[in-house]
Amino acid sequence: MLNSKIGGIGYYVPERIVTNEELSKLMDTTDEWIVERTGIKERRYAVKHEESSTTMAVHASKRAIENAGITEKDVDFIIFATLSPDYYFPGCGVLLQREMGMNGIGALDIRNQCSGFIYALSIADQFVKTGMYKNILVVGSEFHSSNLDFSTRGRNVTVIFGDGAGAAIIQPTEEEGKGILTTHLHADGEYAEHLAYFNPGGHGGVFLKDTELYPDYGDEPEYGGMLVTHEMIDKGQTFPHMNGRYVFKFAVEKFPEVIREALAATDYEVKDIDMLIPHQANLRISQMIQLNLGLDSDKVFNNIEKYGNTTAASIPIALCEAVEAGKVKDGDLVCLAAFGSGFTWGSCLIRW
Ligand code: ACO
Repeated sequence: MLNSKIGGIGYYVPERIVTNEELSKLMDTTDEWIVERTGIKERRYAVKHEESSTTMAVHASKRAIENAGITEKDVDFIIFATLSPDYYFPGCGVLLQREMGMNGIGALDIRNQCSGFIYALSIADQFVKTGMYKNILVVGSEFHSSNLDFSTRGRNVTVIFGDGAGAAIIQPTEEEGKGILTTHLHADGEYAEHLAYFNPGGHGGVFLKDTELYPDYGDEPEYGGMLVTHEMIDKGQTFPHMNGRYVFKFAVEKFPEVIREALAATDYEVKDIDMLIPHQANLRISQMIQLNLGLDSDKVFNNIEKYGNTTAASIPIALCEAVEAGKVKDGDLVCLAAFGSGFTWGSCLIRW
């Protein structure tokens, strides 16, 4: 069976830098609080009505395609990971396909939030291994700033997230022992409501009955009606909801677990890792993972201070920066790992 490899990578972040200082003018927060709890100093915001998850993905994809030394015509499948799609449906996969003139090829959207890129890589890996596709475009792109609560009510969530996109081309490789060595995917829906965006969802009330999260459906008619009511908007129920402490607790447990799982599956040990690129959830989470694994700080790549948490885009953006900075070199053992809403988590071990 063929192995797959990352044959090209690219990323895009919007030009507009938004500092903690700027946020502190909109809500009751401080640079000190944000830096101490998350490590984030600034993030990028896309331009509303001019940019979107799809347009950012186009920029990142063009770079990945060029970096892989192929053209748009060579791409034979798209996998798009995002939690901030342009439309409720259809997904961004087909929009990206249209915008890049790659009409006709399959386009798959996946909804695995912070773990989206790892899930996407794993799916691409299987398709390449079976020989079905030869150049899969895998994208993670997020436009968080378009729907965050910029009042003090939303401060625990809003300060964390930023916009951006990352892309990779997954291809077959014949080089022995190189490429994607293993991927591991997990989920536990028991915790779905601890990090979620309920409305517009339409039917989430089924699971939220008798909780303080129950959406205010107002005077909706018995049939039909709306996905979003004025009452939901007034009560701030149309913004992401996060139980931060709960997320933190699980993240610091599941990240090391799934990294060790990838190492065990390939007979490697922690000391063999040349670079760990964790999903950029929070600098404190990355530091806890590093501590748990006993890795030196120069073996864990972090760029959250510049971009905040870009969810599905964070790993490909970080991977690109690590490669560009010469921190990931030919032959290195690179571990990618993620944890996020769902809860979902996963890892991917690559011989670069
Ligand atoms: N600025 C100032 N004060 C704030 C802010 C803010 N931006 N946000 C919350 N606070 C206040 C709260 O209101 C609370 O005040 P109170 O004690 O008067 O009620 C106090 O700070 C403590 O709030 P907590 O939410 O308990 O703060 P905590 O110390 O847990 O830190 C944080 C919050 C940073 C979100 C933390 O829980 C965390 O890191 N969680 C992990 C979640 C995460 O990283 N999510 C990223 C997305 S998910 C993912 O990618 C895996």
